[in-house]
Amino acid sequence: MKQRKISMIIMVILIGLVGLLLFFTFSKSENDEDITKEPIDKGIETAKSAYPGVNIKTEVSDEETYNIAIHYPEFEDAQLNKEILEFIAETKDEFFLGVEDNKEFLDDRTASLNLSFDIYRVVENVYSIVFTNDSYFGGANGLQNSKVFIADTANHHFITQTDILRNDEQSKEEIYDRLVQEFESTEYRTYFFKEQLEEWIRDENNTFSNMYVTDKAVVFKFNKYEVTAGAAGSPEIAIPIKEIQEWITDEWREKLHLEDKTAEKVNPPEQNKGENPESELKEEVPVGKKRVALTFDDGPHPTNTEQILKLLDQHDAKATFFMLGNRVDFYPDIAKEVADAGHEIGNHTWSHKDLTTLGEAEMELEFQRTNEAVVHAIGKSPTVFRPPYGARNEQVDNVIDMPATLWTIDSLDWKSHDPDQVLSIVKENIQDGSIILMHDIHATTVEAVELVLNFLDEEGYEFVTVSNIN
Ligand code: NI
Repeated sequence: MKQRKISMIIMVILIGLVGLLLFFTFSKSENDEDITKEPIDKGIETAKSAYPGVNIKTEVSDEETYNIAIHYPEFEDAQLNKEILEFIAETKDEFFLGVEDNKEFLDDRTASLNLSFDIYRVVENVYSIVFTNDSYFGGANGLQNSKVFIADTANHHFITQTDILRNDEQSKEEIYDRLVQEFESTEYRTYFFKEQLEEWIRDENNTFSNMYVTDKAVVFKFNKYEVTAGAAGSPEIAIPIKEIQEWITDEWREKLHLEDKTAEKVNPPEQNKGENPESELKEEVPVGKKRVALTFDDGPHPTNTEQILKLLDQHDAKATFFMLGNRVDFYPDIAKEVADAGHEIGNHTWSHKDLTTLGEAEMELEFQRTNEAVVHAIGKSPTVFRPPYGARNEQVDNVIDMPATLWTIDSLDWKSHDPDQVLSIVKENIQDGSIILMHDIHATTVEAVELVLNFLDEEGYEFVTVSNIN
């Protein structure tokens, strides 16, 4: 009797301990979720990128006092990933310090961290990864900087710039002369500070850490204010490799096959050979039928965009995709698929910065680079433009050579991640001519699109591109 009682007590204690253990395990992982992990709804990224063996990771969090949007590459190699993740962690720490330091300016504004990256293939298995950090701390307080990684995926390490560029006095002198010439003959000329560039080249610790290489050029990237006035943003000077062979180390001259370089010529994508994009996009829509324009921002995305395409096809629906240039560059095949299915492609800038905070040169670059990436991917230019956050002013309208297309219904899909809530917002606000804002980067939006298509179909709506709405 007594023994049974003791074993009962031991059992109760054991169950209690297991319970406590489970409780702590789960509550801890939930806390971690807040900032260090990706949102739960994130689909698994598959490798349909232009760069085999590299995936794109996206981490987004919207808090009351700050927003974070981080994009970074994920390699198959753990060592490379480790260093990238360390850099991401440092960037976040720096951001949170900034938020802390600027509390007084953040009463009615939200701080934001926007870390994006561009990727360039240098040679087989070698990639330049260029991160751009754009943080905002309220008032006039912000931080813009960049960080370059050159990844050798075959040898599992990062390459330093001085492995590629000669770091001797003579090369430095030549690099300086060439950069001066480039700055003084381009749009940067009015903002250029020659003395600061001289200081930069003379600095003994200068290892060209913000230099990166593409398959055609060596690119010197400077931080905002580093060698120019703020209005120039973060300038980039690209110099064709074949013009500066003498600066390249012997090892890399060989790797870059410099002698063959001139023979290699990439054919530019065919551009609207006589066809009129207007007539292609303008469709006959039966008179008297109610119309709605579904618009999808911030993509393309390797899984979610494809699923949305299937749903649209089932409903014989046409829509508009406002794409980010850096994602088009990464997923050109998906952009092409969207265009081939007859949907309209819009320009949503290169890296989703608030254009009203940028200088004119940088604004122009955000827009033009995206146009180029879209032309490269689908063979023709975007036909519409939407500024990130819908943020525009007179200067934006003057610089961007296309009117801004906004929306009439914000589905808030990015905030609620709740398909039912998206549907009820649409139900409450829909009318003939509505333009609905959604984001094809969220898995929950795919579900929402299915609900919205079913509902609007039943209501007798025709789904048209944004150019056909009026
Ligand atoms: Ni957007």
